[in-house]
Formats: sequence, C-alpha cells, structure tokens
Amino acid sequence: MGYKDVREWIQKVGEMGELKVIEGADWNLEIGAISVLASKHKENSPALLFDKIKDYPAGYRILVGFFESLKRSALTTNLPLDITREGFIQAWRERLARPASIPPRTVSTGPVMQNVIKGDDIDLFKFPVPFWHERDGGRYIGTGHVVITRDPDEDWVNVGCYRVMVHDRNSMGMNISPGKHGRMHRQKYFDRGKACPVVCCFGVDPLLHMIATRPEPYGKSEFDAVGGIKGEPVEVIDGEFTGLPIPAHAEIAIEGEFLPDQGKEEGPFSEWTGYYASGEKFEPLIKVHRLYHRNDPIIQLRRNTGRRRAPSIAMNFCAPPIFATRWKKPACRTSRRWRVIFAGFSPSSRFASVIPATPVKRGWSPANVRARRIWEDTWSWSMTISTPTISTMSFGPCVAGPTRWTPLRSCGAAGAVLWIRSFRVNAKASARA
Ligand SMILES: Cc1cc2nc3c(=O)[nH]c(=O)nc-3n(C[C@H](O)[C@H](O)[C@H](O)COP(=O)(O)O)c2cc1C
Repeated sequence: MGYKDVREWIQKVGEMGELKVIEGADWNLEIGAISVLASKHKENSPALLFDKIKDYPAGYRILVGFFESLKRSALTTNLPLDITREGFIQAWRERLARPASIPPRTVSTGPVMQNVIKGDDIDLFKFPVPFWHERDGGRYIGTGHVVITRDPDEDWVNVGCYRVMVHDRNSMGMNISPGKHGRMHRQKYFDRGKACPVVCCFGVDPLLHMIATRPEPYGKSEFDAVGGIKGEPVEVIDGEFTGLPIPAHAEIAIEGEFLPDQGKEEGPFSEWTGYYASGEKFEPLIKVHRLYHRNDPIIQLRRNTGRRRAPSIAMNFCAPPIFATRWKKPACRTSRRWRVIFAGFSPSSRFASVIPATPVKRGWSPANVRARRIWEDTWSWSMTISTPTISTMSFGPCVAGPTRWTPLRSCGAAGAVLWIRSFRVNAKASARA
C-alpha cells in the first residue's frame, strides 16, 4: 500500500480511519491548541487536516500528526499495515543493518510547478502559516518540512529539517544548530563571502521529512535513503534559481539564499518535544526568490504534542532497534570513544530514549566535522533525535512554554546538571513573556 505524495498519504490515512478534518479553525493559536489537545500525548491520536482556515480560502490546508500510530508509521515507511510492533522493530533492524540507497531521478516538471511566483509577487502569508503558541517569536511555516542545500566543495546534497519562521512576505529565519549538515554547507558559502542557496519544501512525502530529521552520514544524501526505503527514486526538478533538486510532488517549495550579511531575530518556538528549546536568536536571513506551489496547497507541520515526549518516530522506531534485544545487543556498532550518557524510559511510549554524547564542543570547526562524521558512522541509523553535542533541547523543561515537561523526574543527576544549563535559556524566554 504505497503512496506517491502527501495527498495520497492523507487519502490512505482517511481510509484507515485515522484522519480528522477540522474546518474553520484560526491560524492564530487555535490550530496549535487543537493540535496539542487532539494529541494529548496518546498513541493512535488521529492525524488532523485543517481546512477553511480563518482568513484563508478553502483548500489551503494544514496537516499535523503523521506518525502517532503504528499503522501510520508503517504506511509512511513502506511496511505492511497489519505489521505488529515487534515486526516493525524487526523490519527496521534489518533495514538499519543493510540500508538501501536509490538516487533521485530528475524530471522536467511536476505538480509543485502548478503555480510559479517570482519577485514582488512572492507572499509567504498567502498560506495559513500558524502562530502556534502564545510565546513563540513568530509564525512558523517549517516544522514538518525539509531544507535542501548543496556542499560547494564536495557537491553532495543534504536534506535536513530545521525550523523556519516567516519574517515577512519574502524572507524567513531558520534555526540550525551547530554541527548540522545544512549549517556546515551554509558556513562554507559564508566563509567565501557568498550567499548560500537553499530550497525549503513544505508539504512533502512524510517519509522524506522523517528521514530529514535523522542524520545520514556526512556526504550521503537523504534523497538516496528515501529512495532505498520506497524502492523507487524520489522525483526532483532542478530549481531555476538555485539548481538544487526540488521534490516534484511537494506542495510548496521556495528557492532562496541565506544572506551572509543580513540577519534577524528568530524564535523562540515551543518545539514538537513539548517545550521551548532556545530563546530568541539572531539568525541569517533567507531571501526568497522563487515560490512554487500546487493548487490548494497543504502545509504539513509537526505538532507540539503536549507535556512530555510523544510516542513519535524517535520513540517508536528509532530507539527500539537499539534495544530491541532487551539491551543485550545494540543494533549499531558503538565505539568506546562515545558514551551513552542518558538512557531512560518514556512512560508514554514504553520505549527507551538515548542521547549519545560526543566529546566535541559546539561548533563546526574541521575537528568537529571530523568528530561528527565518526559519531554519525556509529550512530546515524539509530537515532532520530540527536545532536552532536548535548543540547538543552534534549532535556530542558519548559519554564516559559504553554506546556511543561519535567524530565528531571526521569533522568536523575545528569538531567539536573543539564536542567541548570537549560534554565538560563528558558529563563530568558520567561523574561520576555
Ligand atoms: C520536528 C523536528 C524539528 C527539528 N528542528 C530542528 C531545528 O530547528 N534545528 C536543528 O538544528 N535541528 C532540528 N531538528 C533535528 C534535525 O532535523 C536533525 O538533527 C537532522 O539530523 C539534521 O539533519 P542533518 O544531519 O542533515 O544536518 C528537528 C528535528 C525534528 C524531528
């Protein structure tokens, strides 16, 4: 039971009885609130499709909640819908051990090109971009999306997922943590005094988004990994402005540039994990030069799932492969250089969550890039939520957010230390509120 794009995915989820259509919600806080309430941190909470959103034409829709059921996770990752949890874990163990890879296929056009908008006609607010939570820094279009960049030296394409806030009609801000591939690419351009070409797509195949949120090893493209899982290449169109590959079946795509000499405050944002990860930061501006979208476009977004981590992909099938054999046999090679600093159970998902720590400091210096590559070789197929350094995002309770999560309850002394670190960040957000 495969699917081609997010529209077919929605149709199949509807046939499975796991979709709820909600009409008339307000993009300003209401969609965010309904999304949290509908999830309530439960497994099998439905996917939500918002339509007839206040101030916007019917058909301009928002989809939230891709992975909160085993069936939807199976549909997304090309596994039988009647698979059991154990079967799912086993299938993923096998995939992780022998990852398949099929490169994307370039096509001349696709549905994303139904509307091509350039120059002064570009207006990102033509879409019902939600203002999610009352203390967010702005309206976020990118929380369940993909970000595409190319390495200017080694000519490989990365697909990552880093949150995107809309500043105005034609500019956006993005939060990319140190050590992420998109940031490394961007820095290489900035070091040469050049703008960095970037494509962002909103409303993509949920599998592409999912794979973008986990680290493929440096130099390998997530497009190839998705092709390997689907058993067929992802169709892409060469972007007119950037030359970067644009998924042909995306709902919305922009081509733009990170500007080396212009920036704006981005954040804070209450993350999908249920708490604020960082405060407001000055981030490079993305100038949008091309906007493409399908008729009646669907923005696909990750919801904030409430008080604690949700039974999301990270919990549902990334952690289990590691511990599927009751802690005896890790699915991935590990090295003595790297330590698992935290392993705890998420009460909701009944699965373990691990955060690996590397001895590298924050940053993207060549030494850190090398360290990250080794780290990725060790961990890449095992983790979805991961950072090259311990980040407050992994542990920080939400002091300022609309929802609260207190990991201290489950992670003890290590969590206490990290909580103190994270407190400064959250306190800043509190002060603003
Ligand atoms: C829903 C979601 C949102 C994320 N947002 C961010 C973000 O804003 N910034 C960031 O650096 N990482 C974010 N991540 C984590 C990255 O997507 C993840 O580390 C991924 O591996 C990055 O891709 P890369 O390894 O190609 O750099 C997010 C992950 C998820 C699941």
